[in-house]
Amino acid sequence: MSKAFDVVVIGGGPGGYIAAIRAAQLGFNTACIDEAVNDKGAPALGGTCTNVGCIPSKALLQSSENFEQAGHHFADHGIGLTNLSIDVAKMLARKSAVVKQNNDGILYLFKKNKVTFFHGRGAFVKADAAGHEIAVTGAKLETLTAKHVIVATGSIPRALPGADFDEATILSNDGALRIPAVPKTLGVIGSGVIGLEMGSVWRRLGADVTVLEALPVFLGAVDEQIAKEAHKAFTKQGLKINLGVKISAVTSDKSGVNVAYTDAAGKAQTLACEKLIVSIGRVPNTNGLNADAVGLKLDERGFIAVDADCKTSLQNVWAVGDVVLGPMLAHKAEEEGVAVAEHIAGQHGHVDFNTVPWVIYTAPEIAWVGQNEQQLKAAGRAYNAGSFPFMANGRARALGDTTGMVKMLADAKTDEILGVHIVGPMASELIAEAVVAMSFRASAEDLARICHAHPSLSEATKEAALAVDKRTLNF
Ligand code: FAD
Ligand code: NAI
Repeated sequence: MSKAFDVVVIGGGPGGYIAAIRAAQLGFNTACIDEAVNDKGAPALGGTCTNVGCIPSKALLQSSENFEQAGHHFADHGIGLTNLSIDVAKMLARKSAVVKQNNDGILYLFKKNKVTFFHGRGAFVKADAAGHEIAVTGAKLETLTAKHVIVATGSIPRALPGADFDEATILSNDGALRIPAVPKTLGVIGSGVIGLEMGSVWRRLGADVTVLEALPVFLGAVDEQIAKEAHKAFTKQGLKINLGVKISAVTSDKSGVNVAYTDAAGKAQTLACEKLIVSIGRVPNTNGLNADAVGLKLDERGFIAVDADCKTSLQNVWAVGDVVLGPMLAHKAEEEGVAVAEHIAGQHGHVDFNTVPWVIYTAPEIAWVGQNEQQLKAAGRAYNAGSFPFMANGRARALGDTTGMVKMLADAKTDEILGVHIVGPMASELIAEAVVAMSFRASAEDLARICHAHPSLSEATKEAALAVDKRTLNF
């Protein structure tokens, strides 16, 4: 017999589990289906983000940064260490424990909010506005009916043709998060977010890391000045970043991988490495959903086609997160999940894509919100720019981390903040102030007039706001 729900969510990542919680909060009888399992065969709620994305990568970034600090910077503080070593197995076990805390946390949240969880794969049987039917294939087969279905099936890594992931030598994000011992040499294809974060982890632990990037520019989506500063810092740390390359062949055996490529000058090169991370973007995941059979429309790139409210081609079927167009970010997925649940309740859920922040958790961290200088120039928008270097910030000096700057762009006429770009310490936390300011459509002067604690890194944001009007106080 089928079980009837108001809302069934397929996928328990940040898009899906948050949509389910919000729908339940709004009074709907809600179920969430997720098929992920941990290494013990138990449910692993939280999707890519929790299992093989945001959370484990940040755990390893923290461990490896601690190692880097202990090895290279503690001495500046008068702290001496001998026989510094890294126990990779312990580091990975800690990461897995952090992941499990998050998996269990979501199960707890489901109980608290009375979301019914089904462990298994969800697939459409029938899509009918009067009541959709979803089959769950797990330990047993169940059939659910739902007035509304929210698809949040996420994304999977894009493979390089001719270089299938084996997760032993050719690694996706999954394998990159569980390399059992520090490789002597590590190749990374793609200098995007995963390439830089995972490349940084293993470089800090001692690997010789070479990054091969197809585009001739570094971090093309980032404000040029910020990207340049980051490139300088990463190169100084020892990341070898080769831009404008064309990969011709990847061959591997038990001893490692050979990558044949043409460099930016058109010269044939070979990179031999013990392990290779391929991080060239991700593709939407609609595997096994039975989308075709029920007429759920995909776009030409395989994303579920949705309108601005995340409505699909089928009535009362919605889709959120990585499986629909837009930045592949956990917080974007979450915002869409909340907005859809609120739409179902007849409310006016909305995601403001102009204020979705981006963060790259390298050291220095890179964070931005809104438009960059290249975009404003291309749009012909008149703007004023102000920046403030961490070199002139007291807290950054005390921390011993003065790399980078905060840069603010504001409309030339109205002074409304159009974008904030940060490279430097704790950029991931600092960007929140800019997001709040832009969400309230603040001007640079508004921010400049707000009292900021001293000494704090956030004073650099205030000073960047002052710099828009060419009146910094400390630089
Ligand atoms: P997902 O998290 O992919 O979840 C989809 C879930 O649906 C999965 O559990 C999957 O098993 C399940 N599923 C799929 N099909 C079915 C089915 N038919 N039936 C049942 N279950 C199904 N973003 C950030 O914002 N910050 C970061 O720091 C960050 N770091 C990242 C690091 C890495 C290495 C990677 C790979 C990604 C990172 N991301 C980060 C991106 C982030 O993980 C994704 O944007 C986010 O997870 C998308 O959420 P989602 O709910 O759309 O999908
Ligand atoms: P990405 O889109 O960030 O970067 C991919 C890079 O690979 C690009 O620079 C691209 O030019 C390059 N590339 C593509 N094809 C290539 C080829 N054949 N040869 C060489 N280079 C090639 O994708 P990535 O790093 O795989 O991450 C996927 C997504 O996951 C990100 O876009 C982001 O949305 C999300 N993510 C977010 C994080 C965060 O918020 N901190 C962390 C990690 C991932």
